[in-house]
Amino acid sequence: MADEIRFDDRVAVITGAGGGLGRAHALLLASRGAKVVVNDLGGSMDGVGGDATPAQKVCDEIKAAGGEAVPNYDSVSEWESAQKIIATAIDTYGRIDILINNAGILRDKSMMKMELVDWELIMAVHLSGTFFCTKAAFPHMREAGYGRILSTSSAAGVYGNFGQTNYGAAKMGIAGMMLSVKLEGAKYNILANTLVPVAGTRLTATVMPPQVVDMLKPEFVSPIAVYAVSEACVDSGKIFVAGAGYFSRAAMVEGPGVFFDDPAAVTPDDIAAKWADITKLEGAVEYDSATAQTGHSLSHLKM
Ligand code: NAI
Repeated sequence: MADEIRFDDRVAVITGAGGGLGRAHALLLASRGAKVVVNDLGGSMDGVGGDATPAQKVCDEIKAAGGEAVPNYDSVSEWESAQKIIATAIDTYGRIDILINNAGILRDKSMMKMELVDWELIMAVHLSGTFFCTKAAFPHMREAGYGRILSTSSAAGVYGNFGQTNYGAAKMGIAGMMLSVKLEGAKYNILANTLVPVAGTRLTATVMPPQVVDMLKPEFVSPIAVYAVSEACVDSGKIFVAGAGYFSRAAMVEGPGVFFDDPAAVTPDDIAAKWADITKLEGAVEYDSATAQTGHSLSHLKM
């Protein structure tokens, strides 16, 4: 049997860990030795109000099981408060090895009905929240020469979903952000990945029948989240998909494309004539960076 993945002497910050997926990640990490900062603002699922109870309760659960945890009730959505979340790890345990960006809310509406505030709040919590916590954690990880960051996206971002233009944009933005964090962190052994979960939580309970919610326990997602923030994981810039016992990887790929030797001579009719080849994905590849992609797209030029 493989050695058990452990987190002794590792410190993890998990945002939005007062319930749902964050709580499940926190309990599993703590059961394997991690000291956990359980952050949760404790507001409603559409981002109103705040309450210390959820974060405190999860800390109590962790301690009752013999683990170590400290609560934090700050919001991820402002730079000042996000810094306090990371400072809780530094002040309490002297380090931060793991950041799981998980806090989230929903403001689902069709684009026609969406108010600007629904757009702005979703961007603030998901996209800015992920950036702020990552930015606050990064210097500590860089100094330590070690970091594992896992940020939570969604199928709504990667594939689209009716009524979620705000949420989908923020969630795909998070996946994109992690691709650049991967490049900036590589030199310092800071790995940054993205999780696309599906789970029955208060966010999904309104759209899923109760028996489906039961089959999609958040605990079923946590094994891959915990693996992804362990020393054992050496992948970075990857999107992991998980739920109900299904585990997979999603990726951005680009087809082999078509090269025209004289770009200035290309007409819309040439595009039409080559459309099937331009859009085909057989032989598609993943690029490690924008630089690698640009290198391919310019590879036919004589320079
Ligand atoms: P949840 O509502 O149970 O958990 C989210 C937690 O984040 C809540 O406890 C909430 O109080 C906290 N939170 C919200 N705004 C915050 C803020 N500004 N600062 C700090 N904490 C805040 O929902 P769930 O489903 O566990 O969601 C976790 C993450 O997974 C979210 O990012 C969500 O968008 C994402 N997700 C969930 C899916 C699912 O099927 N449940 C599917 C795809 C993505």
